[in-house]
Amino acid sequence: MFLSFMAEARLLQSVLILFLFVVVVAQDETQFIYNGFRGANLHLDGLANIQPNGLLVLTNTSKQLSGHVFYPKPFKLNATQSFSTSFVFSMYPDVEAHGGHGLAFVISSSMNFELAVPAEFLGLFNLSNNGLASNHVFAVELDTIQNAVFGDIDGNHVGIDINGLMSNDSASAAYYDAEGRTNRSLQLTSREAMQVWIDYDGDERLMNVTLAPLRHPKPARPLLSTHLNLSAVFLDSMYVGFSAATGLTANEHYLLGWSWSQIGQLPGFNFSELPSLPKIRTQKRWLEIVFIVLLVVFVLLLVIILAVVCAIRRKMFEEVKEPWEQEYASHRFSFKDLYVATKGFKDSELLGSGGFGKVYKGVLPSTETQVAIKRVAHDSRQGMREFVSEIVSMRRLRHRNLIQLLGYCRRNGELLLVYDYMPNGSLDKILFQKNESKSDLSWPQRMNIIKGVASALLYLHEEWEQVVLHRDVKASNVLLDADMNAKLGDFGLARLYDHGSNPRSTNIVGTVGYLAPEISLTGKPTPATDVFAFGIFLLEVACGVQPFRLLNFAEEDIVLVDWVFDCWKKGAILETSDPKLGGSYVSDEMELVLKLGLHCSHCKPEARPSMRQAVQFLHRDAVLPDVPSDYYLERNGLLDKYWGTSGSYPSSFQVSTNSFFSVNSVIRHGR
Ligand SMILES: *[C@@H]1O[C@H](CO)[C@@H](O)[C@H](O)[C@H]1NC(C)=O
Ligand SMILES: *[C@@H]1O[C@H](CO)[C@@H](O)[C@H](O)[C@H]1NC(C)=O
Ligand SMILES: *[C@@H]1O[C@H](CO)[C@@H](O)[C@H](O)[C@H]1NC(C)=O
Ligand SMILES: *[C@@H]1O[C@H](CO)[C@@H](O)[C@H](O)[C@H]1NC(C)=O
Ligand SMILES: *[C@@H]1O[C@H](CO)[C@@H](O)[C@H](O)[C@H]1NC(C)=O
Ligand SMILES: *[C@@H]1O[C@H](CO)[C@@H](O)[C@H](O)[C@H]1NC(C)=O
Ligand SMILES: *[C@@H]1O[C@H](CO)[C@@H](O)[C@H](O)[C@H]1NC(C)=O
Ligand SMILES: *[C@@H]1O[C@H](CO)[C@@H](O)[C@H](O)[C@H]1NC(C)=O
Repeated sequence: MFLSFMAEARLLQSVLILFLFVVVVAQDETQFIYNGFRGANLHLDGLANIQPNGLLVLTNTSKQLSGHVFYPKPFKLNATQSFSTSFVFSMYPDVEAHGGHGLAFVISSSMNFELAVPAEFLGLFNLSNNGLASNHVFAVELDTIQNAVFGDIDGNHVGIDINGLMSNDSASAAYYDAEGRTNRSLQLTSREAMQVWIDYDGDERLMNVTLAPLRHPKPARPLLSTHLNLSAVFLDSMYVGFSAATGLTANEHYLLGWSWSQIGQLPGFNFSELPSLPKIRTQKRWLEIVFIVLLVVFVLLLVIILAVVCAIRRKMFEEVKEPWEQEYASHRFSFKDLYVATKGFKDSELLGSGGFGKVYKGVLPSTETQVAIKRVAHDSRQGMREFVSEIVSMRRLRHRNLIQLLGYCRRNGELLLVYDYMPNGSLDKILFQKNESKSDLSWPQRMNIIKGVASALLYLHEEWEQVVLHRDVKASNVLLDADMNAKLGDFGLARLYDHGSNPRSTNIVGTVGYLAPEISLTGKPTPATDVFAFGIFLLEVACGVQPFRLLNFAEEDIVLVDWVFDCWKKGAILETSDPKLGGSYVSDEMELVLKLGLHCSHCKPEARPSMRQAVQFLHRDAVLPDVPSDYYLERNGLLDKYWGTSGSYPSSFQVSTNSFFSVNSVIRHGR
């Protein structure tokens, strides 16, 4: 009996132990917590895996794939049974703020989602079963892509789904503050860890969904709070877990922890035990930052280079334009046009250089016309206004034997004058050609040139509205057009030196050999000083000899004028004629030109004819008086008076005068 009692007691004990065991197991089945998933026995499929540190990866960024994780044992759930669950997740988008598609907490009658579609179906449904009551699926989705077909409110929302993706209720990801009044929005794909609480009250049939940043206390007011009738959804045994999916864009979907309870209070997470999130992304972010910084630096450099290039260009084409020049706008050329016309003032376009500056050939881009562009260095601002107005008024000088001035341009320290282009260049070039036994200029052509220059000077002195002095008449300032007609150039330019010259200079402008003697005393140019230079010019053209080139004659250096006078005195004036003509000239005309040359270059200004008289003599409208017999005496006497020596100009002359002398002023046009 006792034995049987003992046996019964043991049996009872065994039954008790067994009962206790069952209760413990049952309690295990109604509650669990994962602070990280290291060593967890879970049902995984698709891309889902558990990292060594316990981080649960639902998906990586492989496109159009999904991953699932389920608690391996089913739970007994019904619509009146309360439950709570909480999890910590994080999403790392592959393209900044453009990841996809999202993750969902799932309660499902099955763990098999093989035929479900990723992307917008979140790996839970497919086109044919979406929304069917036979699915027996309840889900809370964290959706990062807006899909209009499913009525998504935006691309960053939390939704409650029953058997399909048309959310029963949804809201933008956010959480309420302590007062429960204002909400603070959250970015699901921010790479930050966030905690979600899902609480179902079976008595009230009320489903609450709450969201907050990790370590933030559970907000008192849930984001979603909806009455649901889940009686048709829940079967006797239901699996709980997660699904996540990627589409054309992807997120890495991570779970850090998960807890579940059907018996009241949820166990809280121990945050220090949660696995850390991958740092790789931050490195990638680093790379992105470095890339962006490099890009910004590159763009900045580009901008700086562009700015510098623009500044250089602006500087290169910079002009000086003052308000008073407004009225001359139509006479002005832009420096850029002139720069383009002369191919950047290239040496190959250089026609010549002289006392006033360099002359370039150019083709104006707008009209394709050929022009000669004279670049004159000029530093003075003072007097510029008067000078420019003079230059512009000179544009109104129109005579067939004057080079036409087309306009001007002004830069800092520089003045550019644009003239008609003369294809045959300057007269001196043809006249004094070396190594040529025969001249390219016939006597009739020379007569035509002489008459042309005379007529141009007469126009300047007497026929225009005011007296214009040329001040630098010489063969190199006479240019020839295509028909060998003379065009006098450089008139008026001498005025440039009256404005803005240095005060120590004596302001004598002209070329040695063509300067009337009195000008070095008075310094004042007059029509008579132009006539003097014209006389020298006549002798030049007739004799083919430069005025200041000394002739070694009878072992004595003689100036051209003296030589011609000597020959005239001997009655052999025609001997001075240019040998290159080979005797083919009209003797009368030659004699007339030589004698007029002597008259015009008379030392006494009052003994010289006016330009009007000179023209009359040339056209034989008046008879040229004979050369006065005292010519030579007076000449020598005067020269003594002026220079203190006799005969020729002193060699020191050139040095003693100012730097504006265009001693080697040879302006060649054409080649
Ligand atoms: C994602 O994981 C799978 C295996 O789980 C691997 O084959 C694939 O290369 C991974 N994709 C990326 C983008 O890392
Ligand atoms: C729901 O489940 C609870 C506990 O398992 C049980 O007490 C209750 O009767 C069930 N209700 C229904 C309608 O099945
Ligand atoms: C959709 O999924 C259901 C359930 O898994 C399956 O029975 C059905 O064949 C699937 N449809 C398609 C078109 O894959
Ligand atoms: C939401 O759920 C309730 C209860 O199941 C259902 O009657 C209702 O039609 C659902 N609403 C939507 C929009 O799915
Ligand atoms: C949060 O606040 C914004 C504006 O303050 C509002 O548009 C949005 O609907 C609010 N969200 C929720 C869930 O109340
Ligand atoms: C759900 O939220 C409401 C407030 O919206 C609250 O009154 C209720 O107690 C909450 N229920 C649970 C189970 O958290
Ligand atoms: C819930 O839905 C079922 C049918 O699916 C119905 O029988 C039951 O009355 C509903 N309960 C409530 C509270 O609406
Ligand atoms: C949380 O985990 C850490 C490390 O495992 C442990 O030291 C600490 O006691 C835990 N805290 C609680 C409240 O359990």
